[in-house]
Amino acid sequence: AERELILAFESSCDETSVAVIENGETILSNIIATQINSHKRFGGVVPEVASRHHVEQITECIDLAMAEAKVTFDELTAVAVTYGPGLVGSLLIGVTAAKVVAFAHHLPLIPVNHLAGHIYAARFVKPLVYPLLALVVSGGHTELVTVSAPGEFAIIGDTRDDAAGEAYDKIGRVLGISYPAGKQVDAMAHLGKDTFDFPRAMDQEDNLDFSFSGLKSAFINTVHHADQLGQALDKNDLAASFQAAVTDVLTHKTIKALQQYPVQQLIVAGGVAANQGLKEKLTAALAEAFPSVDVIVPPLRLTGDNAAMIGAAAHIELAKGHFADATLNAVPGLDL
Ligand code: KG4
Ligand code: ZN
Repeated sequence: AERELILAFESSCDETSVAVIENGETILSNIIATQINSHKRFGGVVPEVASRHHVEQITECIDLAMAEAKVTFDELTAVAVTYGPGLVGSLLIGVTAAKVVAFAHHLPLIPVNHLAGHIYAARFVKPLVYPLLALVVSGGHTELVTVSAPGEFAIIGDTRDDAAGEAYDKIGRVLGISYPAGKQVDAMAHLGKDTFDFPRAMDQEDNLDFSFSGLKSAFINTVHHADQLGQALDKNDLAASFQAAVTDVLTHKTIKALQQYPVQQLIVAGGVAANQGLKEKLTAALAEAFPSVDVIVPPLRLTGDNAAMIGAAAHIELAKGHFADATLNAVPGLDL
């Protein structure tokens, strides 16, 4: 059988990544150059800084990805790239690099939605069974998505304000944790107890939407109020209480979605899928309410931004013949 080899690019935010994926399911290479240290001192991603780093790193990422995969450009089937959503300057570096490689080597160019990529990271865990449900939780998104067939997405729940990861990063700042704070808040939460009664917004409402800005404000007010009184609050308990509120709502809304959309698989996707508390709560709740539903959480290296997931999503688009030409542009606000 012929090998299908896709060279995939991801540069939507603060990770420059290039991967080679075989037949949509095997990672031959997945080079990830992170810029987190450059953004830490600013407390978040600075778009101009991000674009400059992508320019500096992308050529080496291509060389490393090709070398590690031990393939030549002649052997490639197609080139794939994230064209949105994300930061426009960052996206443009990947889009331009992918166009150059596709043009120079006469290869088809496959445009990929970043969120489709996060969902298809699960393909490296096991074959997917449709229809399926995905909970996409990242720094920019909090969405419940049905996937009725390969590459057919419908958003059934969304955040009204902050994304889950964004809320972690913002409250982390108040705790003195540098960007991105999610991983460390998660670790602190495991050392503390849920002693603060933080709000679970929209939890009881009859919809599949989320809101995290009220929780963020309640958290910040609690800390500031204690500061004014000269009281020191237990940071681990604060983290545990915040995490309990976030994971309660994510879990309850996912259960509600499963009641409306029967599926065999639930994919947890995006950077926040790495959250240990979320994994534990979701797995326990599903074992109780939907024991037949398989929860797929990709391994750590595949939940954060990476090009392998873009290659997996591109495999689906390739089969459908969804290609772009040289006019492909970055679409910062692209929907699923
Ligand atoms: O998907 P991702 O790498 O980038 C975006 O597309 O946004 O997600 C990054 C987000 C950050 O907000 C980071 O704080 C959060 O994922 N994150 C976590 C954890 N690890 C990363 N949030 C909670 N718990 C974690 N263990
Ligand atoms: Zn992402």
